[in-house]
Amino acid sequence: MDQAVTYKNNGQINIILNGQKKPKQDKIEAAEIMAPLPQVQEKHAILKNIEEEMNALVGMEEMKQTMKEIYAWLYVNKKREEQGLKAGKQALHMMFKGNPGTGKTTVARLIGKLFHQMNVLSKGHLIEAERADLVGEYIGHTAQKTRDLIKRSIGGILFIDEAYSLARGGEKDFGKEAIDTLVKHMEDKQHEFILILAGYSREMEQFLSINPGLQSRFPLVIDFPDYSVDQLMDIAKRMIKEREYSLSQDAEWKISEHLILVKSETHPAKFSNGRYIRNIIEKSIRTQAMRLLTSDRYTREELLAIKANDIVF
Ligand SMILES: Nc1ncnc2c1ncn2[C@@H]1O[C@H](COP(=O)(O)OP(=O)(O)O)[C@@H](O)[C@H]1O
Ligand SMILES: [Mg+2]
Repeated sequence: MDQAVTYKNNGQINIILNGQKKPKQDKIEAAEIMAPLPQVQEKHAILKNIEEEMNALVGMEEMKQTMKEIYAWLYVNKKREEQGLKAGKQALHMMFKGNPGTGKTTVARLIGKLFHQMNVLSKGHLIEAERADLVGEYIGHTAQKTRDLIKRSIGGILFIDEAYSLARGGEKDFGKEAIDTLVKHMEDKQHEFILILAGYSREMEQFLSINPGLQSRFPLVIDFPDYSVDQLMDIAKRMIKEREYSLSQDAEWKISEHLILVKSETHPAKFSNGRYIRNIIEKSIRTQAMRLLTSDRYTREELLAIKANDIVF
């Protein structure tokens, strides 16, 4: 019994102090030496797994940092509970601000998975919704539609894209009813599901300013910045690799030059970042397939290679 407790203390040091100085407590230090390795590794595994999954994503430093903080906070809370101390119960509802294709949906899905592993969510699934899924056609319809969506999200995440559009019609619009229903349930069921509102930065800020009560209900606001050309190229290479293709040097240059041009000509809010890259890659894969079919050559090398001619915009 005594031993089990010291093992836990040991785990705490390993995760939380994270390279910082250990407290000078003989009991803990002795227990640390004695601790069975597998248990320590297991505790590291969740954090490591989280970091690995996040590292697959280019950039997003703010999001990565926030996730680690949440992990540490949850872990410390558990330890505080074990010591009979007050464990804070913060809500984890979030707001994601950023242009199209900056990874908001991707991250929401990942967070569901991670929170499931961290035991915060019982299922970790993602329900994606937009205005039309929440807003109904007659009085009472909206509240019912919104409640149904929340019900389906229990144990996971309710992700509402372009959430600002709920405030579009002002006081008389049914969107207001959807907001009120969401607010009520995000309080009442705050530990049963996580609500993520997503949308363009400016619109989301405006949305918050006309609904002052909302701001404090979203302790976590995460920015999703536009990607630089280098980051977009990084995303392109990862997508190519993941699909088991390879990009020739010419093809790479062709994409990169094109991105510089497109980014200089397109308003940032209209450029779809990662999605734009995904479309280029998927189109190039289809073009390559046509080329191979025409030439009737299917060596391993040919099957892998995406050449400059396969890149079409
Ligand atoms: N940082 C990133 N690293 C790798 N791929 C990304 C990244 N951000 C976005 N993508 C890819 O770009 C596409 C669009 O992302 P998505 O999450 O749908 O953006 P949003 O929801 O913000 O519009 C997806 O295929 C996603 O995998
Ligand atoms: Mg999205």
